[in-house]
Amino acid sequence: MNLLRTKSVEQSIRDTEEPAHRLRRDLSALDLTVFGVGVIIGTGIFVLTGQVAKDKAGPAVALSFVLAAVVCGLAALCYAEFSSTVPVAGSAYTFSYATLGEFPAWIIGWDLILELALGAAVVAVGWSGYAASLLDSAGLTLPDAVANPPGESGGVVNVPAILLVLAVTALLVAGIKISSRVNAVVVTIKVAIVLLVIFAGLFFVKSANYTPFIPAAKANPSVEGGAAPLMQVLFGINPVSYGWLGIFAAVAVVFFAYIGFDIVATAAEEARRPQRDLPIGLIGSLVITAILYAAVSLVVVGMQNYKDLSTKAPLADAFKAVGHPWLATVISIGAVAGLTTVVLILLLGQSRVFFAMSRDGLLPAWLAAVHPRFGTPYRSTILMGCIVAVLAGFIPLAKLAELVNIGTLFAFVVVSVGVLILRRTRPDLPRSFRTPLVPVVPILSVLACLFVMLNLPVDTWVRFLVWLVVGAVVYFAYGARHSRVGAAAKPGS
Ligand code: ALA
Repeated sequence: MNLLRTKSVEQSIRDTEEPAHRLRRDLSALDLTVFGVGVIIGTGIFVLTGQVAKDKAGPAVALSFVLAAVVCGLAALCYAEFSSTVPVAGSAYTFSYATLGEFPAWIIGWDLILELALGAAVVAVGWSGYAASLLDSAGLTLPDAVANPPGESGGVVNVPAILLVLAVTALLVAGIKISSRVNAVVVTIKVAIVLLVIFAGLFFVKSANYTPFIPAAKANPSVEGGAAPLMQVLFGINPVSYGWLGIFAAVAVVFFAYIGFDIVATAAEEARRPQRDLPIGLIGSLVITAILYAAVSLVVVGMQNYKDLSTKAPLADAFKAVGHPWLATVISIGAVAGLTTVVLILLLGQSRVFFAMSRDGLLPAWLAAVHPRFGTPYRSTILMGCIVAVLAGFIPLAKLAELVNIGTLFAFVVVSVGVLILRRTRPDLPRSFRTPLVPVVPILSVLACLFVMLNLPVDTWVRFLVWLVVGAVVYFAYGARHSRVGAAAKPGS
């Protein structure tokens, strides 16, 4: 068995032209950028900002957002070259199949499930919290049993989260063009809300809240044991919050806020002019959100002392704290709309990765069928939608956001290495976007992602490694034997 057999770039592109497996090419550069912004702005800025400022970084949380953006920017430059060279559904999975070989590609596909499916479930749970609180303001209080996952505040099943995931799944089956239109409207609302926080919040900023900007490092029980960042454990540092180490630990968490720009790359096969539009979509959405995040986080820590920030709805609650509850309600409505598009696009990306993997025979081939009328990979979409609905309904996933981050960072490392490999093995391929300063940028991207990964907790590393081992078992039990590339390589076939 050849674990490193590769699928050529030409073969990948040819596969997309088979009528039974063809997705519609319907998306423009603007659609892609809107997609990017739609999935990027979400739980990260609406929820994690408060948690991270309070426990890890203090007012310097804005610095963490900027550093995380730099890390993502380096990876985006690599993604852009790769996705404009291999404009095929499946993102990092497809890229690694063309460069590193089948087994590494499988592992990446498996890893992307962690990013996309688990990410969608985490965000759906966050959405349900905001939705319940809005219903509550409207005088309709949901019983705890149907509003929280088991084990959290008397919950049994998180019904709003399940309903959200199922509704989003139906939208995706009905067709990507419809989905991107709905998305465009919601993204507009979301960006407007973020701008509202920035400009309305400015009036309440007190400069005293910015001193000290970087609070002195100190021990903190919430970052000890399995929760301690791996780097601090490896270097024998007593785990601390705040200071520069706190800022780095915060980078590893707020990284979640940028997840999604890479999903623009997973829509490559559906872009009208992928060579030109993908780089615009990827880098454009990242730059826009980085500016918004830095501004929002600076305003929020200026409005309230970081120690007083709320950890559930920090943006809305900061306005309550300065005596403007109606603004808080408006922001909550925006958050509900905003988190909806995040779930939508995470699931879209997930169904496309699944689709690419089953088209290659690494997952059962019937999953790859495209709906005769809607032109969407409906079976993989419905299957993933159901799995994510169950996860979102029954598992308290808040802590698992870190697991989503480590999976994503790992994919970024592989893509950056892949750029270097493909430049060597296939210098002839047309690249409408070339990563600048190769090999410096891809190498910096790898190092930056590894550094952020090291700042994630020990527990997260353990869970991640277990997930990869399970993936390897599934590969040897199924994919290795059913691979289309493997079958084509057999003598006599
Ligand atoms: N970036 C997305 C969010 O923050 C996943 O919710």
